[in-house]
Order: sequence, then structure tokens, then C-alpha cells
Amino acid sequence: MLLRRGGPGEVGAAAADLVAGALAAGARTLGLATGSSPQPLYRELARRVAAGELSFAGCSAYLLDEYVGLPDGHAQAYAQVIRRDLVDHVDLDPASVHGPDGSASDLDAEAERYEEAVVGAGVDLQVLGIGVNGHIGFNEPGSPLDATTRVVRLAEQTRRDNARFFGSLDAVPETVLTQGPATILRASRLVLVVSGARKAAALTAALTGPVTVDCPASVLQRHPDVVVIADDAAAAGLTPGR
Ligand code: GLP
Repeated sequence: MLLRRGGPGEVGAAAADLVAGALAAGARTLGLATGSSPQPLYRELARRVAAGELSFAGCSAYLLDEYVGLPDGHAQAYAQVIRRDLVDHVDLDPASVHGPDGSASDLDAEAERYEEAVVGAGVDLQVLGIGVNGHIGFNEPGSPLDATTRVVRLAEQTRRDNARFFGSLDAVPETVLTQGPATILRASRLVLVVSGARKAAALTAALTGPVTVDCPASVLQRHPDVVVIADDAAAAGLTPGR
């Protein structure tokens, strides 16, 4: 595991360097996270594409997760969020951006379909954020570390954290579809982007604590190629140079 840390402005550029390096090395299948953590990365990718320094032509992308039950086209559905945050600003074909369908009538069948699609595609580089409670994707504390894509009930902490996107706690869906820890670990390389003091405890537990369902992100310790990019506030609990 490699830890790169720096000021808030450096996180996006450091993560973009990894994406650019992967593309140059032939990566064509990306795993994308939503939420605020990867936004500096996505802004930097958009800048590089606009400057002609980078191209996503021929690439496809797979989302980690999706809310269940939001009306079609809802602004907070992750399919819409990733369009606004990244796809609209780069040369990634929208038809090549995939996610679980949170409006499917048979959610278990949809989870199975999506798992097969992600595994079949083979993600070269997976972008990840981490929740305050140590979740990755929407794998909440207590999630079996060998779980694959499935329906999950959100922790109250996560619903409160994400209420800022919905205007009220009541509007936040209670269930989601998410890739499982085992799905995520199949990607060739994982890039975890973490910013802010609120994430410091979760990041410290994930990287230096036991591998445990209490902190699903701790499963990253089992992957041979993880790069963690954290700003100084998020990395405050980690020993420098580790
Ligand atoms: C969200 C997403 C995750 C994300 C995490 C952290 O709810 N499901 O994929 O990494 O929780 O969110 P944020 O980056 O907004 O803090």
C-alpha cells in the first residue's frame, strides 16, 4: 500500500496522475465513485481532457453503487451525479458508463446482473472514497467482507451524512445497490481519495487497524495494489513516512 499525502489542492492532481498513468499503460475499464471525495480528481481530469492532455476515448466505466427507488433522472441518483461531475466534461461515451439500476423491479436479479457485468468487464483502476463510518461503496459496518453486489440498508450515519445532497434526512433513500467488498477487490488497482478531518479516524482504522467488518474499508489491506491519496487533515492519524 502506498500513501501519498499533501495539501487539499494536491489530492486531485495526484489522483489524476494515477488515472493518466493507467490509461497510458492501456487501462480501458475504470471504476468510478461518487460523492464529494473524488470531485477534485474529476475536475482535474476534465481540465486535462479540455487541454488535450488526456482522452477517455474507448474507455468504459462502472459505478460502485446506486440508490434504490429514486424516480428516473433524479438529480441525486448516482447515474446523474457522475454525469454532472465527470462524464459531461470529458470524452467518455455516456453509453459506456454503467451502474446498477436502482429502479429495477427485481433488485436481487439486478444485483446479480451488475456483478456479472463488472466482473466480466474487469476493472483496471477503481476510484474509491471512504465514509465517516469506514464504508466503501455503500458497504456499511457489518457487511461481510466476501460479499458481492447486493441490496444494502444504509446506516443512519450515512443517511445523515448524505442528507446534505437531498435537502432533508427523510428524502434520503433507505436502501441502495452496491458492489460488495469482494467485487471491489477484484479491480487491478485501487485508488482511495480522502479529504478532510472528518475522515481521519476512518482512514486510520482502515489502514492501521484490524481487517474487520466493523470497518469495511479495512479490507483494502488485502489488496496488493492500493494507492491512498489523502490530504493532511485526513492523514492526521497516520504516521508520516509509513
Ligand atoms: C458515499 C458513497 C461512497 C463514498 C462515500 C463517501 O455515500 N456511496 O461511494 O465514497 O459515501 O462520501 P463522500 O465522498 O461524499 O464523503
